[in-house]
Amino acid sequence: MGHRRHAVASSAWPFLAFAVLLALPGLAAAATHRYTFNVQMTKVTRLCKTKSIPTVNGQFPGPKLVVREGDRLIVKVHNHINYNVSFHWHGIRQVQKGWADGPSYITQCPIQGGQSYTYDFTVTGQRGTLWWHAHFSWLRVHLYGPLVILPKRGEGYPFPRPYKELPPIMFGEWWTSDTEAVISQALQTGGGPNVSNAYTFNGLPGPTYNCSLKDTYKLKVEPGRTYMLRLINSALNDELFFGITNHSLTVVEADANYVKPFTVKTLVISPGQTMNVLLNTAPNPVSSAYTMAIAPYTNTQGTFDNTTAAAVLEYAPSTTTNNLPLPSLPRYNDTGAVTNFSRNFRSLASPQYPARVPQAVDRHVLFTVGLGTDPCPSNQTCQGPNGTKFAASINNNSFFRPSTALLEAHYARRYAGVLLANFPTTPPHPFNYTGTPPNNTFVMHGTRVVPLKFNASVELVLQGTSIQGAESHPLHLHGYNFFVVGQGFGNFDPVNDPAKYNLVDPVERNTISVPTAGWVALRFFADNPGVWLMHCHFDVHLSWGLSMAWLVNDGPLPNQKMLPPPSDLPKC
Ligand code: C2O
Repeated sequence: MGHRRHAVASSAWPFLAFAVLLALPGLAAAATHRYTFNVQMTKVTRLCKTKSIPTVNGQFPGPKLVVREGDRLIVKVHNHINYNVSFHWHGIRQVQKGWADGPSYITQCPIQGGQSYTYDFTVTGQRGTLWWHAHFSWLRVHLYGPLVILPKRGEGYPFPRPYKELPPIMFGEWWTSDTEAVISQALQTGGGPNVSNAYTFNGLPGPTYNCSLKDTYKLKVEPGRTYMLRLINSALNDELFFGITNHSLTVVEADANYVKPFTVKTLVISPGQTMNVLLNTAPNPVSSAYTMAIAPYTNTQGTFDNTTAAAVLEYAPSTTTNNLPLPSLPRYNDTGAVTNFSRNFRSLASPQYPARVPQAVDRHVLFTVGLGTDPCPSNQTCQGPNGTKFAASINNNSFFRPSTALLEAHYARRYAGVLLANFPTTPPHPFNYTGTPPNNTFVMHGTRVVPLKFNASVELVLQGTSIQGAESHPLHLHGYNFFVVGQGFGNFDPVNDPAKYNLVDPVERNTISVPTAGWVALRFFADNPGVWLMHCHFDVHLSWGLSMAWLVNDGPLPNQKMLPPPSDLPKC
């Protein structure tokens, strides 16, 4: 009997082990998370002034969504305000499901006041920090929140496990006036829009501004610990420097992709970008609190919000947080500091987190990105450069907003009157892009796309121009991550620059800043069918037309085709 029991036990062991494996959390079925977004007007007071802003469920910033890799999100949006709205899940790939991507007039008609739409999508092959925001006009200035993707259960981080995670910090901008009036007036007069009155940490301007000492964001920490901090730049029009007095930061992830860790005093983050950093707190802090600060990085020739916002890293509750020394951040136009910082990014390129960089290229695309002008209508005086109106373009094409969603036109194969497939893939009139600008800076207007074969490998060089002043442009591609294989200053040299590419461990991102008077080279596989917007994540440039769309055709296999639209997709 005893012998027999032993035999049974040992032969059962593999099955037992199998059962234990199944029960392990890491192999548990993915979860579904349901959220309701009631978009409503809410009164908020900042900088001594109260205004009514659109919020999600009355919260500003909006609710934090927390999921795990592999989970499904179902977000029911009810629009109760007088503006159209739609939501974008910034950085989520939305494979085969462009219908959930969100940019108004690209993947969907906006949700009109009184209407609803349900975003239903699954997070596959991504983990880290992303975010969500409105994608209609400038509404994202108020409508934004974090989207945290934890690794699958039982799967750790590729760096020492932090003691704790701190709440995400979203950098933002605040205008005391109505931002929809600001942009519509600017588009009318052709001048630059009024700049923001303050920068914010999770919606709070903090002690450097009037009436704001009570509106100071505080992060509570213990001495001698390693924390993970999620940073998101949700500002409208400004790249930002960030630093903490007497502390350094180790960057471990960018745009929901792990990177080889590197440590800095100051980091630079562009609108749209996200970063996870490790923060070692002081074992024996000499002060009970330290200041975190953000300030702009820009080379614009126009005006900009040249203020600094502060928040507090608090080791012990303290009452005097208004006279703490600010961290020393680089000067606002310190492009050298930005270059030194961005040089550090590398993919892990490990067996578990490989970098699938296209080694061969099917399509070479060169886009100029920058500002331009439109003539002033004859019955008007304009406030743009030399009495013109400001515009912005890619390859001199300023995006003309269609009156219906491009993705619907594509799915129905009814393109006439909606879009043209002839977006130029090289500059129509080559010039010395970063030298003296041409005399004629007028742009063309059109709703054009670049069609791509499924799974084509694309090399995209984004070339900044000096038209109306060279400045950096944070370009964001929907539906994809890309690898940043090279960058430099001046004009891209197609003969010599490719030899210097990093095709081994380039960083993988969804938003990259085209350097001031420089270029950046990206590669990606067009493996996600649909219509995908690419644009400057400065909303002022987006409003001026600095965007285009890629039309990625279906592949031959069933899992390489777009899925049909949901039945509640909004109508225009
Ligand atoms: Cu975060 Cu099209 O944007």
